Amino acid sequence: MELFSERRSADVVAASFAATPDPRLRDVLTALVRHLHAFVKEVELTEEEWSAAIGFLTRTGQQCDDVRQEFVLLSDVLGVSMLVETINHRTGGASTESTVLGPFHMVESPPRELGDTIALDGKGEPCLITGQVTGPGGEPLPGAQVDVWQANADGFYDVQQPGVQPELNLRGLFTADEDGRFWFRTIVPRYYPIPDDGPVGELLAATGRHPNRPAHVHFIVTAPGHRPVTTHLFVDDSPYLDSDAVFGVKESLVRSFPVVDDARRAAEAGLPNPFRTVHFDVALLRE
Ligand SMILES: [Fe+2]
Repeated sequence: MELFSERRSADVVAASFAATPDPRLRDVLTALVRHLHAFVKEVELTEEEWSAAIGFLTRTGQQCDDVRQEFVLLSDVLGVSMLVETINHRTGGASTESTVLGPFHMVESPPRELGDTIALDGKGEPCLITGQVTGPGGEPLPGAQVDVWQANADGFYDVQQPGVQPELNLRGLFTADEDGRFWFRTIVPRYYPIPDDGPVGELLAATGRHPNRPAHVHFIVTAPGHRPVTTHLFVDDSPYLDSDAVFGVKESLVRSFPVVDDARRAAEAGLPNPFRTVHFDVALLRE
């Protein structure tokens, strides 16, 4: 075995994995070592910096428990979660783009009827969301499942405010009609900060970054024979659209939520007048 040297360090360590039985594991570890060594050489990492990095990663692990995953958060703010998501769900422009699942789909959305409201406490700006689920060629997908969840008008999910928000507030599982259409009542969500009281928050503060995500409604849309899409619908007048702390925004997912001031339409929708509305079509690729 070749002995370790500064010049050949990556090759020497990569060679130690040559006998890894799983070829994918061997490839991943070899690439990891090459990039890691190139990084250490590029910045000429000091021993103090190495020690600070070990301390940071240690605290990141110690911050994790059943409801808090600080490593996922670290991956999010470094853009790695979005990169993995994007690489694994390339659409080629033929379907709705995906974005991160996020940590708040921790409870199953309750099945609801088309037109129902998911805003169980009625607090916030009333909003009608409509859309159609289609295949890549625009063909309607009858009976598609549309799972939605969102933050309230103060920027909190129900699971963050037990006793303040009703259980399963702002969550719903809808079944599209025979034309693939869906519609439901809700309120306009607000932007919110990711948890910033741990090591990831320290990183954001040290680099002058804010912890906020722009206002959005989460969607998971599924239909038999088609690839599911996990995505967001972004509110176009929200702050932070151009600086999402987790890089989740894609231009194609931003929609305006215009105000409708029309007593007849409000009565039809079962909402007070005026209200806001948005239309969000979702196209799925075939399996
Ligand atoms: Fe979210």
